[in-house]
Amino acid sequence: MTNAKMPTAGTSILFGGDYNPEQWPRQTWDEDMRLLKEAHVNSVTLNVFSWALLQPGQPDEDTYDFTMLDDIVDTVTKAGLTIVMATSTGALPAWMTLKHPDINRVDFQGRRHRHGGRHNACPSSPTYRKFAPKLAGLIAKRYAHLDNLVCWHISNEMSGYCYCDNCAAAFRVWLQSRYKTIEALNQAWTTNFWGHTYHSFEEIFPPNELGDAVDENRSLLPALTLNYRRFMSDAMRGVYKLEADAVRKYDAETPVTTNFMLDFKDFDYFEWGKDLDVVSWDCYPSYDTAPSAIAMWHDLMRGLKGAPFMLMEQTPSRANWQPFNSLKRPGQMRAQSFQAMAHGADTIQFFQMRRSQAGCEKFHGAIIENDGTSNTRVFRETAQLGAELGGLGTQIEGSNLAARVAIVFDWQSWWGMLGSVGPSVSLDYLTEVNRYYAELYRRHIPVDMVRKTADLSGYAAVLAPCLYMVDEATAANLRSYVRGGGRLLATTMSSITNEDDVCHLGGAPSPLRDIFGVWAEETDAVAPDVSVPLEFAGAGADRAASGSILCDVLQVDSDTRVLATYGGQDYYAGAPAVTEHDFGEGRGYYVATMPDTAAIASVIDRLVEGLSASELGEASDVTVTDGLEVTTRVAGDGTRYTFVIDLAGKGGEVRLAAPRTDLLTGREVGGGAESTLTLERFGVVILK
Ligand code: GLA
Ligand code: ZN
Repeated sequence: MTNAKMPTAGTSILFGGDYNPEQWPRQTWDEDMRLLKEAHVNSVTLNVFSWALLQPGQPDEDTYDFTMLDDIVDTVTKAGLTIVMATSTGALPAWMTLKHPDINRVDFQGRRHRHGGRHNACPSSPTYRKFAPKLAGLIAKRYAHLDNLVCWHISNEMSGYCYCDNCAAAFRVWLQSRYKTIEALNQAWTTNFWGHTYHSFEEIFPPNELGDAVDENRSLLPALTLNYRRFMSDAMRGVYKLEADAVRKYDAETPVTTNFMLDFKDFDYFEWGKDLDVVSWDCYPSYDTAPSAIAMWHDLMRGLKGAPFMLMEQTPSRANWQPFNSLKRPGQMRAQSFQAMAHGADTIQFFQMRRSQAGCEKFHGAIIENDGTSNTRVFRETAQLGAELGGLGTQIEGSNLAARVAIVFDWQSWWGMLGSVGPSVSLDYLTEVNRYYAELYRRHIPVDMVRKTADLSGYAAVLAPCLYMVDEATAANLRSYVRGGGRLLATTMSSITNEDDVCHLGGAPSPLRDIFGVWAEETDAVAPDVSVPLEFAGAGADRAASGSILCDVLQVDSDTRVLATYGGQDYYAGAPAVTEHDFGEGRGYYVATMPDTAAIASVIDRLVEGLSASELGEASDVTVTDGLEVTTRVAGDGTRYTFVIDLAGKGGEVRLAAPRTDLLTGREVGGGAESTLTLERFGVVILK
């Protein structure tokens, strides 16, 4: 059932993470190995940022010296650890940036950078496109034979845009292949707006501050920024592919990945997912990130390939780069690790193994302290988790979630709304998607995060909040889903434009208007901190509910059922705010504003009305105190692993209808007298 190659440590899943012994004298390494083994670490990620170090002496393009890396590899191999080998191209050598300035990015202000930082090479630089894959290939050639090599890690957290002349030239080539002729581009982008008509591709420049951009998200011709985002996503992916191909030349077996990030908007990860053997990502919530927001991103990472993923990095205790780097409370790191696993993580890895003594990460948490101390709470909690994961073995690996509800997630819509001047600066795509996800999460309804062209036919309900950009293929996909019996929810800001940010004519949400039986005649931006009462008829009538940010003023068809109207005193009081409409065998639900939690609950009540727990993919034999997370992974043979986790740090109770085994304690639970379990603060049970 899996569509990904997952690295493993043999009898258990990968447990470990980034290890940077280059920062330490040779004599510390053996002691580090002893401590990592004590913590049940079975894998280390090596060589993430060592490019400059691999070319010591009088550096040039052809001289490499792998002596130190050989020694590190040898040390961890002798210790019996598996290796995730990075290509070390995530940071550039200083000499190369001096000798080949094209490798440095030009920023949004038009300034060429010099050496410094990391993750900042220009994707169109001929130097970078030559020497990054060259190094990746040399490393692959040298280490591919290792028995304990389990994964290739390309670069690191690839991100950001460049606005240099090489990128401008590559952008023009990219545009030409997309639009063929300049006339077609003019037509597609409506460039006659504000005199933007182009006579040749040479006239088009990256949308930076010197040109058409208002800011990094918006230009006066939104299609320009939108397509520059697409181009940059493709260009960086192109560099990833050059390195991945260089590696695969020597090793076609071992999975190749690069690590993705939380809430990351620069690149379309659905496109990137196609080129990764396995998705991996770095999960760094801050102290106030809602558990549902973390869960949603885990689900999205699973959704990229419809398969389990690697949790490549998390901090065991605190980060250093957040405004407030609160510690994870006792038990919290363990709970978050199992949350990742519950949503599809088949590795649990950290940044990092040993805390740096210097550099900007000296305050970042690690498993071993920088003075070599393991006598810490963090070390003990890591070791406990390592022992538990060792005990679980690989039984859960490869199982997936059996979601019957999907949320459409779309980088293109995210970019399109960000790129729009208006209608409200309060509009935030991630917040809007999470509003709905959070309510499903609260109800323990498992969710697949899918792309807008995914096969939806297996889902009982599909939510597409603020699916702003709807092209022909998407419209056809959504129509056939509803026509075939699906329930589809759309909201204000849905189906506004085509793929070039040109508004659909015929009233939003055209061309899906007949699914919902509504059209948005006007859309009001609600003043900040103001809410508009919503009055539900039937279910939810007793809850005080409201909307905010945007309010569509709808015209509805005669067969559209109005589920809620706007209250209050404004001129649209009494007008429809939430509607339901039959289309084909299915139904379209339209939410004309940003609903608060009470309103969302009423909307979801209607959306899932009549669907049983099993039709919604819920674990019907487990009931829990409010606030606990319940997530089930289902193996190919039907075995169900239900994770109940307290992520809020409040504890709670779990009631079981039938006996199950708690895999972490090995105890039979449920059935008879023991049908209620008490979960301590940040407690976890995995019920088989
Ligand atoms: C990212 C990087 C790591 C490290 C961590 C610190 O995830 O990939 O190299 O800097 O952040 O949180
Ligand atoms: Zn560039």
